[in-house]
Amino acid sequence: MTIPATTPRSEQAPEVAYTPEIARRTAAVYDRVRGVIPAVEWPVHAPYVAAIEELKRERNAVILAHNYQTPEIFHGVADFVGDSLGLAQQGAATDAEVIVLAGVHFMAETAKILSPEKTVLIPDPRAGCSLAASITGADVRLLRERHPGVPVVTYVNTSAEVKAESDVCCTSANAVAVVESLGAERVIFLPDEFLGRYVARHTDVELILWQGHCEVHERFTAAEIRAYRERFDEVEVLAHPECPPEVLAEADFVGSTSGMIRHVGETKPRRVVMITECSMSDNVAVEHPDVEFVRPCNLCPHMKRITLPKILRALETMETRVEVDPAVGERARRAVERMLAVGRRESAGRVH
Ligand code: 13P
Ligand code: SF4
Repeated sequence: MTIPATTPRSEQAPEVAYTPEIARRTAAVYDRVRGVIPAVEWPVHAPYVAAIEELKRERNAVILAHNYQTPEIFHGVADFVGDSLGLAQQGAATDAEVIVLAGVHFMAETAKILSPEKTVLIPDPRAGCSLAASITGADVRLLRERHPGVPVVTYVNTSAEVKAESDVCCTSANAVAVVESLGAERVIFLPDEFLGRYVARHTDVELILWQGHCEVHERFTAAEIRAYRERFDEVEVLAHPECPPEVLAEADFVGSTSGMIRHVGETKPRRVVMITECSMSDNVAVEHPDVEFVRPCNLCPHMKRITLPKILRALETMETRVEVDPAVGERARRAVERMLAVGRRESAGRVH
């Protein structure tokens, strides 16, 4: 492999400077995040926050940010934040001409599928997902041949090509409701095995599973959860359903990223540990200064490819545009729209 001698232009951070004027314009944002971003770091972020805000207006653009984005993105420049389902809904509803997706590629592709007429930008096209990489359209066709007549439910963490081969999509927020909406006795559920096993515990529908895993959530162990309980008195354990079943069995609450956030807001635990990507605790801590967050640090390397300099660069150059073959996009759109029609009947719950 040849390593380029200089960083390519698209990788270089645009030049910006921290001035008293920028400090004044971004003071209110910093006030919100001061608990999770040290004061010495703010001069690095603030010029990007100010420049992105200006360019967003010029381009008639909105920024959709997933709950796993870092606080300077999540609280600094995002117009809409949420889980995969929320971002898909917001992307479909916005009137803006340009959507910048601060999240991973399948999220940007889903936005493009729902709004083919809009320009959808991803600040780093290499922001992938181990679940999306685990399955292809050809795999789905093969499964259909093997199980004729059995409907296919596909997690949104997949490519447009895989969505196009599916009957309906789901997210972790509505997976049980989507599976049950089909009225079938058996369903092919792709590609997350652990989410599938979690759904299987909450429905009588028989599920045929695939062995895709999230590289972030599969690393959590039951022993780790027990160690948190021993070390931190009265800690409430919230876990994402992409975790292995033995981890979910140790949790007090299982839900999508937004389900966990809502749970903290509604129950205001004294101390909590979120068994998921670690930026989320920082984002939620901003809203709940009275809750103590124990922070396991499992980072999603794909989510972390998105940075403020790359968001600014995307708005300046209007790159990288996410494109989906119109014929594939049309079939994928049907699967996503069927999911949106089911809506959010969150299948979160206490496991004990
Ligand atoms: P949510 O839909 O719960 O936000 O999950 C998306 C994701 O990528 C989790 O790893
Ligand atoms: Fe994919 Fe896991 Fe990263 Fe979510 S956290 S984007 S499922 S690799």
